[in-house]
Amino acid sequence: MRKKLKIGLFGFGCVGQGLYEVLNQSQLLDAKIEKIVVKTKGKKRAIAEENFSYIADDILEDPTINCVVELIDDANAALDIVLKAFKKGKHVVSANKKLIAENLDLLIQAAKDAGVSFVYEAAVCGSIPIIRNIEEYYNNDALSGLEGICNGTTNYILTKTGEGKSYDQALSEAQELGFAESDPTLDVDGFDAKYKLQILLKHAFGITTAPKDVFNYGIRHIKINDSNYAKEKGYRIKLFSKAHRIGPNQIAGFVAPHMIYSNHQAYHVENEFNAVVVEALFSDQQLFVGKGAGSYPTASAVLSDISALTFDYQYEYKKSKVAELPAFTNNFKVKVYVGSTNRSLIRVFPFIQRDEIFQSESYNYATGWVDFGQIRKYNFNQEESLFLAILPEPIVTLCKDESDSVSSEEFETLLEE
Ligand code: HSE
Repeated sequence: MRKKLKIGLFGFGCVGQGLYEVLNQSQLLDAKIEKIVVKTKGKKRAIAEENFSYIADDILEDPTINCVVELIDDANAALDIVLKAFKKGKHVVSANKKLIAENLDLLIQAAKDAGVSFVYEAAVCGSIPIIRNIEEYYNNDALSGLEGICNGTTNYILTKTGEGKSYDQALSEAQELGFAESDPTLDVDGFDAKYKLQILLKHAFGITTAPKDVFNYGIRHIKINDSNYAKEKGYRIKLFSKAHRIGPNQIAGFVAPHMIYSNHQAYHVENEFNAVVVEALFSDQQLFVGKGAGSYPTASAVLSDISALTFDYQYEYKKSKVAELPAFTNNFKVKVYVGSTNRSLIRVFPFIQRDEIFQSESYNYATGWVDFGQIRKYNFNQEESLFLAILPEPIVTLCKDESDSVSSEEFETLLEE
C-alpha cells in the first residue's frame, strides 16, 4: 500500500514555490505540505505570510511530519536539517547538489542508520530522471562512460552568446529566469556541474570523490575569438561533466568546456536544456535530454521523488557493492584548444605534443595533447586572458615518459605576471 506523506518543506525559492504549485495541481499523489520553514521574515512571497514558519524545529520536532523536503540554498544549514530529520525518523528529499557532493557517504550512512530514505533526483540535471535510470536500468550493465551538459545556466549562456548576445546579458537573463545559483560563480566556473558529476560518479561507478579531486573549469573567460574558432571548424562549445573508464579499472572525470561536432548527441541541446549521454557495454550510447533548471522542471523531479517515497523507494548504490571498485584518476592525456590574447602564453603552454598554432595581432590559439594531471593544478577559472576547451579526440592513458618531456616553468612565470 502507498504510504501517506505529510511533508515539511524547507525553502520557498524558485524550486520550493514550484513544488508547492506542482503538488497542488497533481491529482495523483497522496502527499500534502503541512508546514513550510523559510529563513527571511517579511519577504514578498506568492502565498500569505501565515503559511510560513521561521523555526526549523516546527518541522523537525513535529512527529506527524514523516517527510522533509529540503530546498534551501545553504549547504551547511541543509546538512544540519537533513541529519536531524534522519534522527527524527523522517525521509528526506533534497535538490542540494553541493550538500550531497560534499557529504554523500556520511548522508548515506546516516539515512541507513535511521532506517529512512534519502533521495535527490532533482539535484542532478533537473527534470531528467538520470539517477533513477542509472540505479535501476543500468544496474546490470557495466558503464564505460557518461558525459553531458549538467548545468542549464552555462548552456543558456553558450546558446545566447552563440546567437550574438553578450555574455553579461545572457547571464543576467539566466538569473532572471531562475536558472542560475544565487552565486552564479558556481555555474560559470563549473562547480555546480562538478557536484552533479560527483553524484553521478557514485551511482554509475560506485566511487566517492571529494570536490577537490575533481577538476572544474567553466566558461567565464570565453571570448568571441574562441566562439569564432569553434564555428569555423564546425564545433559547438558545451560545458561537459565527463566520466570515462580508462586503463584496467580506472575512471577519469572532470568538468570543462568541450568543442563537439554535429555527430555528438548533445550538439543540438540548447538553452537551459541538459543532456547526458550514457555509454554502456551492452546498450551502447543512450541520450537523456530535458530541462535542467527552472522552477517547474526541477520541482517535477522533487515530485517524482516524493511519489517514489510513497512506495518506500530508496537508492541501493548497487555499483558500490562490486568486488573491485574502480579508482578515480587524473592520470591521462586529452587534446585541447587554448586561445589567448597573450601570444607568449600560447607559445609556452605545456603541451606534450602541439598540433596547430595560430598567432596574430589580436588573438592566438594552439591545439595539442596535454598531460591532464599536470594542467589540472592551474586555476584556469582565474586566468582571464586564456580560454581552454577539450577537443573531440578520446581521452587516453598517458605513456610513462610523455609528461617528462614537458616544461611548464615559463608558462607558470607568465601566469604569475
Ligand atoms: N544553477 C543550476 C543550473 C540549477 O543552471 O543548472 C539547476 O541545478
